Amino acid sequence: MLIGFICPDCGAKAPLNILDYKCACGGLFVLDYTPPAYSADLIDPTEWNIFRYRAFMPLENEFWRDVTLGEGMTATLPYQEGLYLKLDYAMPTLSFKDRGAAALIWLCKTIGISRVLQDSSGNAGNSVAAYCARAGIDCEIYVPKGTSPKKIAMIEAHGASCTVFDGSRDQTADACRQKAAQEGIYYANHVYNPLFYEGTKTFIYEVFEQLGRIPDNLFIPVGNGTLLLGCQQALMHLYSSKVINRLPKLYIVQSERCAPLYGAQGSPRDITPEETYAEGIAIGKPMRGRQILGGGYAGPRGVILAPEADILSARQALARDGLFVEHTTAATYAAYQALVRRSPLEGDALIPLCGAGLKSEK
Ligand SMILES: Cc1ncc(COP(=O)(O)O)c(C=O)c1O
Ligand SMILES: [Zn+2]
Repeated sequence: MLIGFICPDCGAKAPLNILDYKCACGGLFVLDYTPPAYSADLIDPTEWNIFRYRAFMPLENEFWRDVTLGEGMTATLPYQEGLYLKLDYAMPTLSFKDRGAAALIWLCKTIGISRVLQDSSGNAGNSVAAYCARAGIDCEIYVPKGTSPKKIAMIEAHGASCTVFDGSRDQTADACRQKAAQEGIYYANHVYNPLFYEGTKTFIYEVFEQLGRIPDNLFIPVGNGTLLLGCQQALMHLYSSKVINRLPKLYIVQSERCAPLYGAQGSPRDITPEETYAEGIAIGKPMRGRQILGGGYAGPRGVILAPEADILSARQALARDGLFVEHTTAATYAAYQALVRRSPLEGDALIPLCGAGLKSEK
């Protein structure tokens, strides 16, 4: 079967080299691809990057060798009794977004893209800028006003241009898409492009390879849901391949100041985001909100909130244990702590540490 995109809204199919970032009907493409059944024998033990799992990704050539920066293979650390932390900030650009960017820029390289536009609260922009630098692709990143200066400096250090847009995160994305459409520039976006999720899937493959099992409860920070949707796909893949016999509970973590998925049915709630330390998940209008809330995951899930007042102390607590993380990552830990204070979890848990502390220092 030829691998391509498909629109979940109207069923239209498109080839991987389509330049439009969404379907003519307005729907967001997903990948038309089913990986082979999971088997440890299909993992390439000679590659120490996400492409060791390429047998489960729709890669049709070897360009990933010119794109990888050695992302992934992060430690899954037993932290406290019953709690693992996955150190996804230990990545080439210091956030989990490198998983997705590596796969996305593989696609850009494959279809001969020479220039891309992307918008980001910072981390996805850092990643796309770095992988474009590695792949020799020109890159411009839009970030909203108020983005950490360190993230901007890093984007520019990779040779990308960075446009600081005077508006919210959502308005910045709108402006960027408008420019992409008007000027015909490829929109290499972590939310819209289905390849990004092929990269974030590897988070789960790694946990499974490292622990030989999947913990009972996973806490996933969700703004646009790029880690969540990738994890769901990989978990469903392990489950349908019968290598796990139970799907873990997924806790979707949102900021209490920006929680469009909290209490939502079918589509995200209409909300007005307020200022939060958790800038990475401050997404008022998640573009794949309906997909996130839909039936793509057969296991149990819940949405929980990160108490704003606990973010700094959670960050300090992790730092005092040697783990210096971004505020957004501390928010995930704060939400976990608030939940277990109320009622103990059944089974063990895992939290991704998605971003490094230096990146959210002002
Ligand atoms: C540190 C950090 N954690 C979590 C997220 C949430 O990722 P997503 O918006 O894909 O759900 C982001 C997104 O930028 C982030 O930077
Ligand atoms: Zn469509």
